[in-house]
Order: sequence, then C-alpha cells, then structure tokens
Amino acid sequence: MQKLRSVKGMNDILPEQMPAWRRLEETFRATVERHGYQEMRSPIVEPTALFVRSIGEATDIVEKEMYTFTDKGDHSLTLRPEGTASCVRAYLQHSAGERSPVTKWFYMGPMFRRERPAKGRYRQFYQAGVELYGDPGPYTDAEMIDMVVSMLRDLGVLDVEVLINSLGSEGSRERYREALLAYLLPLRDSLSAESQARLERSPLRVLDSKAPEDQEIAEGAPRILDFLDEADQTHFDGLRATLDALGTPYRVEPRLVRGLDYYTRTLFEVQGRGSALGAQNALLGGGRYDAMVGELGGPSTPAIGFAMGLERILMVLPEAEAPAPIDAFVIATRPELRLEASVLARDLRREGLRIDGDLRGGSLKSQLRRADKVGARLALLLGPRELEEGLVQLKDLRDKAQQDVPRAELAALILRMLER
Ligand code: HAM
Repeated sequence: MQKLRSVKGMNDILPEQMPAWRRLEETFRATVERHGYQEMRSPIVEPTALFVRSIGEATDIVEKEMYTFTDKGDHSLTLRPEGTASCVRAYLQHSAGERSPVTKWFYMGPMFRRERPAKGRYRQFYQAGVELYGDPGPYTDAEMIDMVVSMLRDLGVLDVEVLINSLGSEGSRERYREALLAYLLPLRDSLSAESQARLERSPLRVLDSKAPEDQEIAEGAPRILDFLDEADQTHFDGLRATLDALGTPYRVEPRLVRGLDYYTRTLFEVQGRGSALGAQNALLGGGRYDAMVGELGGPSTPAIGFAMGLERILMVLPEAEAPAPIDAFVIATRPELRLEASVLARDLRREGLRIDGDLRGGSLKSQLRRADKVGARLALLLGPRELEEGLVQLKDLRDKAQQDVPRAELAALILRMLER
C-alpha cells in the first residue's frame, strides 16, 4: 500500500520543535500587547472574491497560488493566503471603526499559498501579524517598524536589514506607472516571459521579479521616489525623521514594491542577512494600505500592518531552548499499586507540578529508565510500605539521593527543590 504522507509543502511541527515556536509566539504576543494590540482570529477559509478584490488580480498570489475550491453549496472559497484581507473584512463586518477611532489587532495562524516549495517557502506556513486602522501616520508607521526591530532584538535575531520605500498614493503611483511603462515597453523583448505577459497590467511587478534579465532592466528604471506628490513626500520625510529620532536603522530601497497590490505610501521589509535563509530572506513585510477599507465597501480609513513568517524567523533564531522537563515521575513498585500511583500523580498535578508515570507498569528498573528518558528530575516510588505509612520515597535522579517524605508535605518539598 502506498504510504500516506503530508501534502507537499505542508509540514508537521513535532514536539521537539515546539519550544522554539512557543518562545517566538510568546515574544511576538508580549511585544505587540505592550504596544496595545489585541488578538483576533478569523476563519481559515473566506469567499474567494475577498482576496481577488484586495490582493489584486495581477498578483502572483491571486493568479496562481491560491487554494480555491467550490463547496457543496456552489460557493467559491479560498484558503487564506494572508491575513490582511480577512482583518479588513472583519473590521467592516463588526463595525470596529464605529467603536473606536483607532483599532489595533494582531493575529497568528496558518496561511496557504501554492508556491514552489523550497527552503523557507512552504504551501502551509505560519504568520504572525498586526493591522492598525484609523491613523494616517507617519509616526505610527515608524513606531511599527521600531516595534518589529525591538522584537527581533529581544529574540536575538540581530543580523537583519530594514528596507523602506514609499509607493505614494494613487495619483503619484499612476504617474510613476506611466513613466515606468514608457521605460519598459521598448525593452519588452528582453524581459522574462512572465513579466512580458503582465507588463501592461502591473509594470511595478518587474521591479521585484527574481528573474536575472528583469533585475538587470530594473536597475535602470525610473524611481518611484522621484514621482511622489507633495503630501506623499511629506509623509515619507516624516517616517524617516521619526525613525532617525527613534534610532531605528533602515535603508531606503526604491525598488522595494512587494507582491501585493493593496499598498500605498509606506512599505517596509526586514531581510535576514545570514546564510541560513537561502533565497527566501524576507523575514517579514508590511506597509500602508489606505485605500483597501474603502474599496471593500467601508468608509475611507487609513491602515497599516505587517506579517512575519514564523518558519523564516525560526531559521535564524539562536539556539532553541530545551523542552520543558517533567518535574517528577511516579513509579508503582508493584503492578497492583498502579491505581494509587495514579491518585498520587493526579494530586500532585493539581498542585501545579508536571507529573508523568508509566501506567503500563513494568519492572522498577524499566520505569526508572523511562523516568530518565522523559527528562524527569525526581522519581516518586510508591510500594506497600510507603502506602501503609502514608509516605513516598523521593529519589533525586541527578544525585540519586533518596528520602522518605510524608504525602502531605510532598508537593511543597518538590516545589522548594525545583525552586518554584
Ligand atoms: P507577505 O510579504 O506576502 O505579506 O508575507 C509576509 C511574510 O510571510 C513574508 O515576509 C515571509 O516571511 C512569510 N511568507 C510569505 N510566503 C511564505 C511562504 N510561502 N512560506 C513561508 N513563509 C512565507 C503579507 O502577507 C501581508 N499580509 C503583510 C501585511 C500585513 N501587510 C500589511 N499588513
């Protein structure tokens, strides 16, 4: 029979990997909560139209990467490829803007894109992100970038570069689009097939194409920053001045466009520089999307956010922590005492201790081996004598010291020994 395996590009995360995941998720959560963001969760499946309308028809994601299917009720549904569109949908659906002028949300969870799997690029991957509605910036933009940088510092991820750019608002971008197209059209035949195919629809995409022939042409292209109108320029200057005042390092990268159509003005990306990442060096990315709330039927509302790929950050995290150990391993020295061992384990767990045991029974020796295997610090031996005298024999598995401890004093003693 053919072996069953997980879907290509979709990975299991096993217990030994979880301590690093949890540390990352907890650091993210603690950081954004210190900045006033509140957690929200949206469904993993949304109406396909949500992503087509927000992410944009001529993007890689919508053109070829979405997991779209028709359900039994003939509705076109899509596994979410990112979190921003769902947040905007939820923001509008629940009239969050009417309750508070500024809304700050964060989220974590799996996203789905049918990309070609590679190191750091998966078909199911996890993102943690934030979205902020109701503040036009640029102070907020700078504060978000600074928040990201300090979170990475707390995690020990130091070898990174922050890239910023401005895509301007609609007017500036339209003028830029025309200038870029005028530059690219005569070079059309030298572009990659993919860029040629969507040149008129989205010429900006050539700028972040990975194809070497496109990159060469992009080098000489006009720069969006030369096309910003006065208000866009003031915004970008404000962002830079605030980042300078905060002491947040960054580099202006006029070719940064990112692969989603909803961005306006501020755009940013943090790239890792170590070799661990390979070609997928974008640790996180985000930007402003001041038009999306309005385009999805809501009142015009400025918005900004970012999302980071957890797998990518994990690739550059220094040394993951050891798994949480078991405090004590309960051992019945006779098979008929297994019930009593269970009661003892239950009582100690109620005191907040991490207790394991081997309810299959077995010899004392094999149970002690098992205690070692699960990383228990202590073994608690329960035999006929201990039961009769209301004791437990406590054995320190590090120095092998042994002592009788009355049941009533056991939990407190263990907590003291573990310095908790
Ligand atoms: P994005 O740049 O498409 O932006 O994705 C954000 C991050 O998710 C990337 O920087 C990367 O770390 C990770 N990522 C993306 N695709 C994959 C993949 N196939 N495998 C592993 N990791 C991946 C967004 O998704 C926007 N929603 C960000 C945003 C929020 N903009 C405004 N608000």
